[in-house]
This record gives sequence, structure tokens and C-alpha cells, in this order.
Amino acid sequence: MTGTAADVLARCAMLGEVSEELDGLTRRFATPALASAGEIVAGWMKDAGMTTRRDAVGNVIGRHGGGERALVLGSHLDTVPNAGTFDGPLGIVAAIAVVERLAVGGPQPSCPVEVVAFADEEGTRFGTSYLGSAAYVGAFEPAWLDHVDAEGITLRDAIRASGGEPDAAVDVRPPDLAGYLEIHIEQGPVLEREGLPVGVVTAIAGQTRARIVLTGEAGHAGTLPMDARHDALAAAAEAVLAVERRGRSEPGLVATVGALALSPNVGNVVPGEVRMLLDLRHADDGVRRRAAAEVRADVEGIAAARGVDAAWTTRYDTPAVVLDTTLRARLADALRVQGIPARDLASGAGHDAVVVSRICPAAMLFVRCAGGISHDPRESVSEEDVAVALDVLEHAVRAS
Ligand code: HGY
Ligand code: MN
Ligand code: MN
Repeated sequence: MTGTAADVLARCAMLGEVSEELDGLTRRFATPALASAGEIVAGWMKDAGMTTRRDAVGNVIGRHGGGERALVLGSHLDTVPNAGTFDGPLGIVAAIAVVERLAVGGPQPSCPVEVVAFADEEGTRFGTSYLGSAAYVGAFEPAWLDHVDAEGITLRDAIRASGGEPDAAVDVRPPDLAGYLEIHIEQGPVLEREGLPVGVVTAIAGQTRARIVLTGEAGHAGTLPMDARHDALAAAAEAVLAVERRGRSEPGLVATVGALALSPNVGNVVPGEVRMLLDLRHADDGVRRRAAAEVRADVEGIAAARGVDAAWTTRYDTPAVVLDTTLRARLADALRVQGIPARDLASGAGHDAVVVSRICPAAMLFVRCAGGISHDPRESVSEEDVAVALDVLEHAVRAS
């Protein structure tokens, strides 16, 4: 049989070997590893009979069938550092498998099908989450081109170095699409806890991401008296716990300081500066924005009490997205055909569907993942659950 769950798992494993690192999977935007993975995916698309193209930022796009208003399937090809092999690639490889099944015959969708491997969803390298899907839907922001990575390379130069055309990314006309369907691992424990292979995603939480810089005074750890210090790291430590307290204060809220860097970073100097990244999410935008304001006030209050300056830069504020009820119903119908309950569940993780839903109806199907583990090499899914997801996606696509 064509387009089996075993094929999908084997292909995800192959892509899992395409990394920037010798050990572990890291595949960031506009790196040679991402380009190599894109060529492999383009080859599979061609083998499935699709025409393929690579857009201005490196999204790899395959097309099955003629006509306007395509139904789009896909997910992201980039990864976080030391990633698992399914977060992103599962959605791409599953979509190609469904096209392979269409190519064999049977009822065809009433519209063309486009499969997209988005070049950047995680935003790991340039802090620009959803850059790939934003470029695809015509929502790429010119200011992003001046973002720099840890090596000081601009996004503009990175796109150019990877064979893309940065200026062309800016004026893409939004495509007229029939809809978007994405298969993705759940990255949480719900499906496993309830013994279900897949679930239908209802909504995706909104996200606030902020950069916080605490500037105190560096000093000699041996001679600077405790009552004369403006220790940026002590202020940061108090601030991190304040973030956690806020996160615990509201049902459904999550608040994390996921990155922290200090300078100087030597044992015998009182740290003068700390840079932190905040990630705060909730399914209700009003709750999220109020919580972000409260966290900001907490951090500024802690800093002021310590004679430390706090600089807050909101880098990212994406609203919560409710996914399309018609497409969700189509996924639920496909599950009913298989005699599987259609479990609705919300997503705390962000996905490309957030951006694509701006220009067309979008829906997602979650696949159970062992222990809910993700963003970690232990990420795994079962062949049986992937088989269910493929049949659901195939059924939904043929009904489109
Ligand atoms: O962080 C997230 O929500 C996802 O991995 N992009
Ligand atoms: Mn991820
Ligand atoms: Mn993902």
C-alpha cells in the first residue's frame, strides 16, 4: 500500500538525521541542514507526482491537481535545538502520504491540494516564530529582515545565503485558499491519559513573548558591601519567581522565563546585567494581556526596589485562534467513520495554523505522543496512531 504509517515513520526518522549538529537534531531556519531537508522533502513530493517550488524564504511547496483555491496541508520543517523527530515533520510527511494515496486513485478532492514544508515556525534562530507561514500568506514583516542571530547575521543575509530572495518575501499577495489542515503531535498528555490516538484541536492559545533586560551595577564580589549592591542576577532571580507566581495565579495561564544570560558571567564579579526571555500564554487574550501587564509591573517593582533598571520589550503578541468549525467537523466525521471518538482539545503550543487561519479556514488533528514529551529527542508516536491520523486526513481531503 502507498502512503503507509510505516513509510511516514521511516521518513520522519530520515529527516531526523538531517541536523546542524553531529549529535542531536537541531535544524534552524536558513541553515544548510534545513536546505538539505527541503531537498529531500521536494524529492518525495515529486515522487508523489506533485510539481514543486521553493519560495522566497525557503518554504518547500508541492502541488497536486489543477485549478484555483487549493486545500493546503503541511507543517514546519525547522526544529528547536536538540529536538524530537516528529514536531513539524510528521505533518509534512503525513500530507505527502495522503497525496500519494490520492495519486493512486479513488475519489479526488474538488480542489487542488498543496503541501507546504514551512521553513521557520519555531523562530529559534531569529526570534521570528511563524516566519515561514507568514511569508506564505503574505504577512511577512519587512522589519524582520534586520533581526540578527546569535552570530550577528541579519535575517536578510541569511535568506540570501540560503538561496532565497529577502525582498521578494515582503510583497507576496495572500493566496486564495480553500482551507488548511495540519497534523501535529499533541506535545501534551491529554490523549495518552484518555487512551485516544488522535484529537481535534479547538483553539490555539495566544502568546506574549518579551525580552527583559535588568541593568544593575557590576562590582567586585569580595569588596562590594552587600548593602551597596545593585545585583542584576539577584533581581532576576526574584523576577523569575514572580513570573512563576503569576503563572500559577490563573487557571489555564502559563508563564515561563525560558532563557537567561548574565554579564559579566564570572564567579567573582557581581553581575551587572541580565537578559531574560519571557513566554506567557493563555487561550483568552484578555486574561493573557492582563497577566503580561501584571508580570511587567512585578518585574519593574522588584528592579526599582533594588536600584536596578528594567527594560521590557514585547517581541511578540499573537492572539488566540479558534479553529474552523466546518473543517473540525470534517475531521470528526472522518473519525466517526473509523469508530473513534472525536476528542476536542485546545493547544497550548503555537502552530502554523495560527498564521494560515488569517486567510482561510484552518483545522488541526493532534496525534498522541508518548508521555506528552516534545522538544526533546524522546519524542515519539506509534505506527497505529499515525495510521489513524492518515486515514482521517485522507478522508477529510477526499471530502473537500
Ligand atoms: O513554542 C511553541 O508553541 C511551538 O513549539 N512553536
Ligand atoms: Mn515546536
Ligand atoms: Mn510544531
